[in-house]
This record gives sequence, C-alpha cells and structure tokens, in this order.
Amino acid sequence: MNRLKFRNGDKIDAIGLGTWKSEPGEVGQAVREAIKIGYRHIDCAWIYQNEAEIGQAFQEAFTEGDVKREDLFVTSKLWNSFHAAEDVEKAVMESLKALQLDYLDLYLIHWPIAHQPGVVFSEDAAGFAPIEDYPIADTWKAMEALVKKDLVKHIGVSNFNIPKLQRLLETAEIAPEMNQVESHPLLAQNELLQFCSDNQILYTAYSPLGSRDRSAGMKGSDEPDMFENEVLKGIADNHGVHPAQILIKWAEGRGTCVIPKSVNPARLKQNLDSANIALSENEMNEINGLDKGYRFLDGKFWEREGGHYTAENLWNN
Ligand code: A2P
Repeated sequence: MNRLKFRNGDKIDAIGLGTWKSEPGEVGQAVREAIKIGYRHIDCAWIYQNEAEIGQAFQEAFTEGDVKREDLFVTSKLWNSFHAAEDVEKAVMESLKALQLDYLDLYLIHWPIAHQPGVVFSEDAAGFAPIEDYPIADTWKAMEALVKKDLVKHIGVSNFNIPKLQRLLETAEIAPEMNQVESHPLLAQNELLQFCSDNQILYTAYSPLGSRDRSAGMKGSDEPDMFENEVLKGIADNHGVHPAQILIKWAEGRGTCVIPKSVNPARLKQNLDSANIALSENEMNEINGLDKGYRFLDGKFWEREGGHYTAENLWNN
C-alpha cells in the first residue's frame, strides 16, 4: 500500500479506516478487527460520538499485542463548538481521554465554521458564530500550541478550499499538513489536490464510497449510486472485485489518503485489499473522466435562515 510522507518524514498509510456513522455498539469490534487485519490508520472525530468505544478497542489491541501505539496513526478533529482559542486544548484533551491516548498523530480543524461555544448542533442561526468572531488564524495558533506541547504530532484542516488554505498559509507558523475533503471520482477536486501537493499539504478523501449510510436528512433524493456506475462496474468486473474497491484503489493510486468506513469484517478486508488491485493507465483515465464536481455532502446542511454560512461561501470563498 502507498504511504504518504509528512514534511518531517513521518508516514501515514494511504488507506485508513473511517469511523463517521459507525455506531456505538459496533465501532469497537470494527476497529479491533481492522487492526487485526492490518489497518494502521484510524480516522476519528469528537463529533462522531464514538471515541470512547474506539479508545477501548485501542487499549485491547495494545494489551493483546496486536499493535504498538507507535505503529498506529490516529486522527481526530476539533469540533465547531471549540474554535475559541482557549477551548482548543480542552477539546483535544477530551478526545485524548476518550481515545485513551496521550498524543494524536494528527488533529484537524473539522470545518471552517464556528458555533457559539458549547453549542454542538444548532437548528437556528443563533447557535452559530460568524467566522470573524473566531478567526481561523487564531484557532490555528492554538492548534500549533498543541504540537509544541506534544499533544499532537501533526495538524491540518478539513473541508478547506484553496482560498481558505491560502489565507491560513499567510499567517500559519506551522503550515497545515493535511486537508481532508470529500473526494471520489464524481468529485475529483483536481485543482485542490494540485494546490495541496504544491504546498506539501497531504490530502485525505472522505466519503470515498458516497457515504450511503448517511441519515435521510443529509441525503438528496436523486443521488447517484457509484456502485451502479457503468464505468466503475465494468472495471470492477474485469478485476473480479466490488466497485467499492475500485473507488478505494483510484484514490490510493492518485496519491491521496482514503478512509472508507465499514463495520463489516468482510468489507473491512476487501477495502484494505484494494491496494493490491493493479489499475491500468487507461482504467485510471476512464475513472478520471467521471468527474462532474458532484458533492454528496453539499454543505447546505450548514445553511440557516439569516445565518452566516452558505454552501456558496463554504466551497467558493
Ligand atoms: P458497512 O459499514 O456496512 O460496510 P463511506 O466510506 O463513503 O462513508 O461509505 C460507507 C458506506 O459504504 C457504509 O454504508 C458501508 O457499509 C459501505 N461499504 C463500505 N465498504 C464497502 C464495500 N467494500 N462494499 C460495499 N459497501 C461498502
């Protein structure tokens, strides 16, 4: 499997395990199984509300000798309600405590969106704060302080577009090292990937399979089904694999990290094994041809009557 290199030479496996939507009661056994079969990169977040169970699974894996802490790469993310600089350390400590770890390998600002402190979700605009109230540059300084305190090894962002990365690069002392964004053949984000690569920012593809297990409220009525896409199906048939595996291989093959979520042992294995598929240049090009800038997570779920955030300013400003 491809491994990506941070600026200091640290490495991260291209294929990691996604844990968004992995329910308490099933996420622990999924993480245990994943580590047993060779996953070394686990993607978590405070807001997924399952970090305590994942922490329990890590402890069991360490105790039973499945993996050593230093061989595991663990990511977590700063939720929108902790953007005030004085709240950032408190937030990472909550994740560390739940995950039963004394450092994270990577900590990301989850969204370029600020909530009022203490507001986890809000149905109306009042629960949000304009980003000017909690400038990303200030939140970032607090992220940098976590590196200096050895609480996290690397820091980055998620859901940032090129202008937002450019603004952050202007003030950052430690340049962001990762940008995690939605990415799959229908949303290849070639320009963003190029920008990241030019600036030594690694890139992780989330929802690489189209996150079909999202709640109905976060789903459009006429979403494409990538598993039924004729091009992907044809290539999958040629290799005798599931289209999900072609999606994962495409992401790994173009030099990004990719974090497919599964709680099913057979699918966890399939997904990790995707690295062994050999896609020809022609096949990669055919898949590249599917890009249409389609977002499964369109960002409209951040829009509120009279609110500060719109899909337009999220993705385009
Ligand atoms: P499950 O957890 O039951 O395996 P994403 O990573 O884009 O969020 O997608 C996750 C969804 O894709 C989940 O519904 C997950 O189901 C499903 N999934 C994960 N791996 C595979 C696979 N190899 N084949 C089919 N479906 C998969």
